[in-house]
Amino acid sequence: MNRVKTKTQFWTHVHSQLESLLDGQRNWVSNLANTSSLIYNALLAFPTHFGPDSDKAVNWCGFYIDSTRFPKSTDWEVEGNRLLLGPFCGKPACQFINVTPGKARGVCADAFMDAETKSVPDVDSYPGHIACDGETKSEIVCPLIHGNQVLGVLDLDCLAMCGFDEDDQKGLEKIVELVVNACDWH
Ligand code: SME
Repeated sequence: MNRVKTKTQFWTHVHSQLESLLDGQRNWVSNLANTSSLIYNALLAFPTHFGPDSDKAVNWCGFYIDSTRFPKSTDWEVEGNRLLLGPFCGKPACQFINVTPGKARGVCADAFMDAETKSVPDVDSYPGHIACDGETKSEIVCPLIHGNQVLGVLDLDCLAMCGFDEDDQKGLEKIVELVVNACDWH
C-alpha cells in the first residue's frame, strides 16, 4: 500500500485487487457488487489521489444494467428501453434511466447509447444530466461492452469539479474490461 504514490500505481493496485476478487466467480451480480465496493473504498482510502480536494474523492460508484437482461414483471410494462440500477456504493440513486432513442437523457444513457466513455468535468453544464444527488459536481461513465453488445455502464460521481482525468478514465476502462470478461452474461 505504501508503494502507491502515483495515479498509475493506484489503478494498477486496484486492478490487481480486482483480479483476485474476480478469481473463481462468474456471477455478474456478485462481481459487480464487489467491483463497485472495491473502487469506492479504494478511492476513499487514497485521498491524495484527487489532489487538493482530497476529501471529495468519490461520492457514488455503481452500475446500471440494460433492463432487458432481467425477467419482466408487471411493474416494468412501460414503453421504452431502460437501464436499471445495479450494484453500487453510495446514497440511494435513480432506479431507471431511459435509453429509448429520442427519449434518452443523461450521462449514463449517452455512454450506453454511444458505447463510449463520457467524462463530465462539470455536470451542471452537461445537457440532460440527471442529478441523483445535487451535491455531485463531476462524473465519469464507462460502458460495459461484451462483443457487439453494450450490457450497461459503470458510473462514478465526485463532489469536486474535474474529479476524473485521463488516467482515471484509462484505469476505469480497464476495470470494466476485467469485470465484463470475468462474468457469464446470459
Ligand atoms: N448522473 C447520471 C444518473 C445516475 S447518478 O449519477 C447515480 C446521469 O446523468 O445519467
